[in-house]
Amino acid sequence: MILVTGATGNIGRNVVTRLLDQGRRVRALTLDTPQEAALPDGAEVVSGDMGDPQTLATALRDVRRVFLFPVFEVFDQVLSACVSTRVEQVVLLSSAVVTFPEPGWLGREQARLETAVRESGLGWAFVRPTYLMANDLNWAPPLAASGVAAGAYGDAALAPVDERDVAAIAAHLLTHGLTGCTFEVTGPQALTQIERVGIIGEVTGRPARFHEMPASEAARELRQWVPEPAVEQLLGS
Ligand SMILES: NC(=O)c1ccc[n+]([C@@H]2O[C@H](COP(=O)([O-])OP(=O)(O)OC[C@H]3O[C@@H](n4cnc5c(N)ncnc54)[C@H](OP(=O)(O)O)[C@@H]3O)[C@@H](O)[C@H]2O)c1
Repeated sequence: MILVTGATGNIGRNVVTRLLDQGRRVRALTLDTPQEAALPDGAEVVSGDMGDPQTLATALRDVRRVFLFPVFEVFDQVLSACVSTRVEQVVLLSSAVVTFPEPGWLGREQARLETAVRESGLGWAFVRPTYLMANDLNWAPPLAASGVAAGAYGDAALAPVDERDVAAIAAHLLTHGLTGCTFEVTGPQALTQIERVGIIGEVTGRPARFHEMPASEAARELRQWVPEPAVEQLLGS
């Protein structure tokens, strides 16, 4: 049995699908009810918080391999539960930020998790994506409403990666029980935000342009979704 945590996420949902396609038995842990989670038939859904010991015990029963979504606040107890239930392999969703010359708060947090997994005695593998293409879906409502996506540093280029590609790598590692390996996963092409909005306009056939906003304004919006140290790291404000 393989446990997928973060199972309704951009990556986790695709890991579940991949594993089921390969004929694996999959348990999916999510905060949602099974109905809300709407995972593919065949996935056994456990609803609850990863930080709840009872939920964890139920989720880890008879599990030998785990796709581990990093919830920073409860990570240590989730890892301890994996160790005490004799999990054999953990595939950790990490981030390419751990390799940056200035990893910042996010990189230090992710690196802390990698170290904890390495030192746990469990078999481990790390998947480190760069920037997920799914992040750009945040532009969908403003583009649909006004044809304008606003943000800071429009000229900054990243090579966004499709979350299905990230999931494919994780599923391969889980299926084959591979350990002691790290995969940095990027997309095929570096694209600025301005270019990405332009591409959305081309493929949708609707007006779409990027509007540069001051970093302080972008930070105010980002604060709704991510912790303050991450806002400072991403926007320098
Ligand atoms: N975004 C990027 O560009 C980027 C780049 C590099 C690495 N990453 C890594 O990828 C992660 C994001 O992956 P994603 O986009 O697949 O995530 P996501 O879409 O935000 O999904 C998060 C998942 O985690 C579940 N979850 C959160 N807290 C939980 C808890 N306490 N107990 C149980 N389940 C919990 C959520 O469950 P519910 O749906 O039930 O709420 C959801 O399934 C980041 O955290 C980072 O580690 C991201």
